[in-house]
Amino acid sequence: MNSDSRITQDVGLARDVLRRGGLVGIPTETVYGLAAVALNEKAVGRVFEAKARPTSHPLIIHVSPSDDIHRWGQLNESAQQLAETLWPGPLTLLVPRTQLVPDWVTGGRDTVALRIPAHDMTISLLDALGDAVVAPSANRFGQVSPTTAQHVVNDLGDSVDLVLDGGPCTIGIESTIVECTNSSVQILRPGKVTALEVAKITGVNISALDGPSRAPGMLLAHYAPRARVELCTTLREARDRFTRLTNDQMSVEILHHEDLVTYALSLYDNLRTADLNNREVVIAVLPPEHGLGIAIRDRLTKAAASN
Ligand code: TXA
Ligand code: MG
Repeated sequence: MNSDSRITQDVGLARDVLRRGGLVGIPTETVYGLAAVALNEKAVGRVFEAKARPTSHPLIIHVSPSDDIHRWGQLNESAQQLAETLWPGPLTLLVPRTQLVPDWVTGGRDTVALRIPAHDMTISLLDALGDAVVAPSANRFGQVSPTTAQHVVNDLGDSVDLVLDGGPCTIGIESTIVECTNSSVQILRPGKVTALEVAKITGVNISALDGPSRAPGMLLAHYAPRARVELCTTLREARDRFTRLTNDQMSVEILHHEDLVTYALSLYDNLRTADLNNREVVIAVLPPEHGLGIAIRDRLTKAAASN
């Protein structure tokens, strides 16, 4: 039994809370989301309030594999290929929206972000609900995304009604956002699915291959802990800086993992723990710029920009 009574594994209970217009923290393979029924304007309004997020920053609609995705968006050939190959999975497709998609989800844009997450508990919830949900990452705006049910409760306090506990996330950083709105295919936010993979699946040359996140709301400063984040390119450089700062009586730690999967998986938890330990500075070693390393560098660079 968890210490917080709002943390549960009861999918039926979560469905009932959503049906009543409530907010439920949901597990996904990337990070935990804050879900509300997408077609319920009042409930979606509460998501923006709970996160203290500007309403101009649109939300991702999360859909079950058994729903008909074409009710929500118009998938061109590239989008269709990506969906078939990578869903359920850590991919969000940005496509022209259908008439079903309300303005309160997209902030009035004519595109919609769609994702089928790879998490059995959340897919069961969507099927029980028979409806799609919006789900931004379940953290307060600009802060570090949650990768456990407890993180969600710690961040959002009373503004979340229930959190469905599906265990720790298995990827640890947000989905790759791919825009497929015309003939071009663009990466708006890097994630586990890489530009190379997207190019291979679609056969389309990807513009802005490894650039920084460009989706609205992906401000330069984002994913930020309270501690100051400083970036280094080598472990040696990080150790030198560590010695200098600790000589100045500062509370410092180094963030570094050789293995990229572990780096992504533990990134947000490590930043949260640094705050719990009252670190003043986190010295992060940037991983090499390939594969998952691209997404980790993106998040670290944004965390450092908040200093
Ligand atoms: O892995 C994920 O994608 C997680 C989990 C919970 O699924 N969700 C997530 O949502 O990261 P959020 O809201 O924190 O980030 C979604 C990003 C935002 O930067 C938002 O601006 C962008 O997607 N986005 C959503 N709809 C859009 C649209 N119609 N046009 C452009 N950008 C959009
Ligand atoms: Mg977010």
